[in-house]
Amino acid sequence: KNCTLCPSSARSVLSDVLCKDENLGIDGGNYTFTKELKYGSMLIYHCPEGYYPYPALTRSCHKNGAWVPHPRRPFQKCKMIECPNPLVLENGLVLPVQRQYFVNNETTYECYSGYTLRGSSSRTCQTNGKWSGATPICSSDHCADPGTPAGARRTGDFFGISDKVTYRCDSGLYLVGSKERECQESGIWTGTEPKCYCKDPEKHPNFFLWKHNTVTTNNPMPNKKLTIEKSGTMNIYFALDISNNIVEEQFNEVRRAVRKLTTKVCHRYPRVNPNYEIIIFGSEVSEIVNIIDYSGKNRKSLVDVLTDLENVKYDARENVGTNLNLAFKTILERMATQKQQNEILFKELYHVLIFFTDGAYNMGGNPENTVAKIREMVYMNRKERERHLDIYVFGVGNEIFDEGIQPLVTKRDAVTHYFKLRRGTKLEELFDQAIDEENAVGLCGIHRNYDDNTADSILQRYPWVARIEIKDEDTSTMHFCMGSLVTPRFILSAAQCFFYTNSEKKITVNIGKNEGLKVLRIILHPKFNPKAKEAEGIREFYAYDVALLKLTDNCLPICIPCTKETSAALKLVGGQITCKQQEERLLVKSFEEVSFLSFIKDAERRDVRRDARLKLQDQRDSCIGLATKINGITADNVKKLVTDNFLCSGGRHPTVDHVTCRGESGGAVFKNYDDYRTIQVGVISWGTKYLCPHDRRAVKQDSDDDSRDFHINLFKVVPFLKQHLGDDTQDFEPLHFLDE
Ligand SMILES: *[C@@H]1O[C@H](CO)[C@@H](O)[C@H](O)[C@H]1NC(C)=O
Ligand SMILES: *[C@@H]1O[C@H](CO)[C@@H](O)[C@H](O)[C@H]1NC(C)=O
Repeated sequence: KNCTLCPSSARSVLSDVLCKDENLGIDGGNYTFTKELKYGSMLIYHCPEGYYPYPALTRSCHKNGAWVPHPRRPFQKCKMIECPNPLVLENGLVLPVQRQYFVNNETTYECYSGYTLRGSSSRTCQTNGKWSGATPICSSDHCADPGTPAGARRTGDFFGISDKVTYRCDSGLYLVGSKERECQESGIWTGTEPKCYCKDPEKHPNFFLWKHNTVTTNNPMPNKKLTIEKSGTMNIYFALDISNNIVEEQFNEVRRAVRKLTTKVCHRYPRVNPNYEIIIFGSEVSEIVNIIDYSGKNRKSLVDVLTDLENVKYDARENVGTNLNLAFKTILERMATQKQQNEILFKELYHVLIFFTDGAYNMGGNPENTVAKIREMVYMNRKERERHLDIYVFGVGNEIFDEGIQPLVTKRDAVTHYFKLRRGTKLEELFDQAIDEENAVGLCGIHRNYDDNTADSILQRYPWVARIEIKDEDTSTMHFCMGSLVTPRFILSAAQCFFYTNSEKKITVNIGKNEGLKVLRIILHPKFNPKAKEAEGIREFYAYDVALLKLTDNCLPICIPCTKETSAALKLVGGQITCKQQEERLLVKSFEEVSFLSFIKDAERRDVRRDARLKLQDQRDSCIGLATKINGITADNVKKLVTDNFLCSGGRHPTVDHVTCRGESGGAVFKNYDDYRTIQVGVISWGTKYLCPHDRRAVKQDSDDDSRDFHINLFKVVPFLKQHLGDDTQDFEPLHFLDE
């Protein structure tokens, strides 16, 4: 009882505050309180279906005994939910014509002759005030599809006379050619096809954009898109409300959304590479990831950032209050520190604040002043610097306090910065919709070329290379294999590495500076069986020597065949690109140049790339013929051992190939395309001879006349890859496989 710091006694003062039960009524509905008339209580209005409370959804009882927002005219009532006017359709008819459209009203759409309808032909006004289905548009094609060059995004899907398409290059790339093209009466587009070129990163700030793509009036949740432009230095600050208005389930959803957003930024916009700050706030602010420690030389990896976030414990008892102002103040402080550390760098920084809150702060005061200071600090009194700051708020919680949030978010360029989550909308889904869908496929195989050969630059040149350690407990030895990151969650490697050690716990993966990554799941190709052809005199058989290892999120994967991601990397443009077309680009010549990487146990080793030529077409038979040097293999059964699943390299003709060594199984056999994209065509499996010295330091081992290496041809195992990597029902972002 003498305990002055007891939470109950500390709070009793505040809970004595009572708000008045006056003028709170709602015409056509009723209301409830979360804590009666006490401080911190929320008044929630209820309306019958098809109606919503207007003008306020909720009020909260503040410290001074007042309801915020104050009840005032127009008096609170239940208003009928209306959908936006659909009569804006051009070149078509909307039926029936009404002055207003209410919930469950239906409309149908028809186009005039010569025009084609895109979108839904009938739509129903939904209880969220949105029309069901997709916006109908009547259009006439006049010009051919102008395509989208690799590395670019196109706006404009209509190809009628005077329709325009505009192009923008992905972050870090420069556009050469026509930025905008118009379909002319002649049926030809004006201008020239644009191309995106890679140059030095420029100084301009990059920015998130949540765009309206429909004009809305009553629509409570307009469509929006997130695009991220240009590379540079970006700071992303996440602030997560953990007060007791946000239940645990909602908090976990927010956490998943942060995870998803950061992973997407890294997968789709690998050149952006932002710094992160993550704080959670209730009565107090606690820091999960500090941007000050994070930026600079010892950058925290995304994996570490997400692990820190994962370890946050939800405990609402700690947080009866919501101090939104303190959260903004914390971010203001971080900015001040950065500015003090390096003002020149600070001027280049671009800041994105992303808040998840219900906006119902009840302590610490109104955050508006702090937000004004943040703006001042970033804008430096210059209008054009407004683009260096974006403040987004995602309204989460059972009841969202609009009036508190509206003044805080950025208002610029008709871009939405405030999103409300309606009941039943999953935050993750909102992100999925919000992130620029025109650029729905990730960038794979981003290949950075640097002149110097330092260990760091090797990591940047081959960011997808995985070194795998497998512990053999029986003999307490280590085996080494290699692999490649093929999606943010999967490593592709050889099945032989895991066939006898089929336990996730014994495997450690190192990708670049991210060392000691744990494997969540091993997936072997179901047809892999080294003993499958023993009866036919083939002692070991490797025709399906591929495996996938599932990890937590990583960055910068390599490209693999038969995906849309790879079509983009190969600049294969158009709707119906097939696997075969990709194969014809990649594996076509009799001697096809490829590379692989040597086992990089020592990160200091600089010269890791090895080169070889695949022998294809008329050269294949004589290449695989060398497998008859193996015991028990003859010209009669050599094709049973080296099936069509294998690619063959080695020998000294037409040039001397490098050979693969022990510990390199599972590694990628890849081609560089266009100087800055890398595409994997094979997985290193086995060879006819061991030519590598024990200490291979800096030795590029040459092939002799009859040494041959065999690699799994990825085009032959696409169904396996597609089944696991293209699965869009899982908790990871799938690759987009081609239909055939
Ligand atoms: C309050 O309004 C809701 C929705 O209109 C209705 O279902 C409920 O019965 C009402 N409760 C009272 C006590 O009037
Ligand atoms: C539209 O909805 C309102 C309100 O539910 C209803 O009164 C009206 O009859 C509907 N109109 C049509 C054409 O269905």
